Amino acid sequence: MNEAARPKTEDEDQMQLGTIKKPDLSAALQTPERLRGYCAQLEAGDILFFPETPIDIPANDLAFLLGHQQVGGAYHKNIAYRPLEDRITGFDAWDSASAERLRGIMRRYSDDVIGFLRSFLAPYQARWKVDYASYRPEEEEGRDLSLRKRNDLLHTDAFPTRPTRGDRILRFFNNINPQKTRNWITTETFDVLIEKMRTGKLNGGRVPLPSSMTSSAAKRGLASLGLGALAPSLKRSPYDEFMMRFHNYLKENSEFQKNCPKQHWEFPPGSSWMVYTDMVSHAVLSGQFALEQTLIVSREVMVVPEKSPYGVLSRIAVSQR
Ligand SMILES: [Fe+2]
Repeated sequence: MNEAARPKTEDEDQMQLGTIKKPDLSAALQTPERLRGYCAQLEAGDILFFPETPIDIPANDLAFLLGHQQVGGAYHKNIAYRPLEDRITGFDAWDSASAERLRGIMRRYSDDVIGFLRSFLAPYQARWKVDYASYRPEEEEGRDLSLRKRNDLLHTDAFPTRPTRGDRILRFFNNINPQKTRNWITTETFDVLIEKMRTGKLNGGRVPLPSSMTSSAAKRGLASLGLGALAPSLKRSPYDEFMMRFHNYLKENSEFQKNCPKQHWEFPPGSSWMVYTDMVSHAVLSGQFALEQTLIVSREVMVVPEKSPYGVLSRIAVSQR
C-alpha cells in the first residue's frame, strides 16, 4: 500500500471505518474469484486505490487540461462530458477549437475508464449505465458553493435529476494534478449511518424512512403520462426520494459534520481510486485537477446485495410493515 494514501487517523482500528485496498493489476492474478473479491470489497465500502493509474492519459492531453485553467472565467463548476451524447457541458468562453479538443480528451478518457472497468469488474458483465464523466479544474478548498452543493461536507451521493431506483453510483477518479494530493475525508458507511439515525444516535433529527420501495400508483400514472419529465420528483422512486433527502440531511447536520469519526485520505498525483459514493460518505477537502467517470451499476448484479443502500432500505421497509 502506498503510504500517501493510508488513513491519517491514528485510531483507525477502533473506528471500523472504510479501508483502502490496493488491487494487484497483474493479469495473471485476475482470476474470476479475485475479480469477484474486488466487487465485494467495493460493495462493502472500501476504496480501491491504484497508486499508479491504470488509465493512459497522453502527456499532451494532460498539458492541455492543466494549461486551460487560466482561461478567464471559463470555469463555473465541473465540466461534464455526456458519453452517450458525446457532448460537453458546464463551460463557456472557450473557442470552438479548444472545446472540440476538450471533447476529444474527455471521450478518450471515458472510453478508457469504461474499457478498464469492463475487465476489472468483469463479474458485473457491464450491467451498468454509463453516466457522465467530469473534469474538475477548480481548487476544492474554499469553493463558494451553496450548502447542499458543497463538496467539503460529508455526504452520500444522490442525483436530483437522474434517479437510479436502487442502482448503484460507482465513481472512478484520477488525480491529474502534477504536484498536489487530492484530500478526502470519509466516515461510516450508509448502513451504519442509517442504523445510527434510526436509533437516535445522529443528532439533527431523522429523515422518514420509506415504508415501501415501489412508487405509488398515482405517481406512476403521472409519470406514464409524461409529466415525470417536467418534475424530477415525479420520476424519483421512494428510494431516490430518500437518498436525496439523506444527502441533504447529512450536509445540513452540523453536529454530525463536526463530531463524526473521520478518516483522512491523500490521493497522490497520478493515482486513481474508485468507490461506491452512494454508500461511502465522503467529502473533498482540497485538491485541484481531477478527472472522474460515473457508472450506474445495476443493483441486480451486486455480489453483496444486502449491503447496498437498496438492500438496507428494503429490509427496513419490510420490518416497518
Ligand atoms: Fe459526492
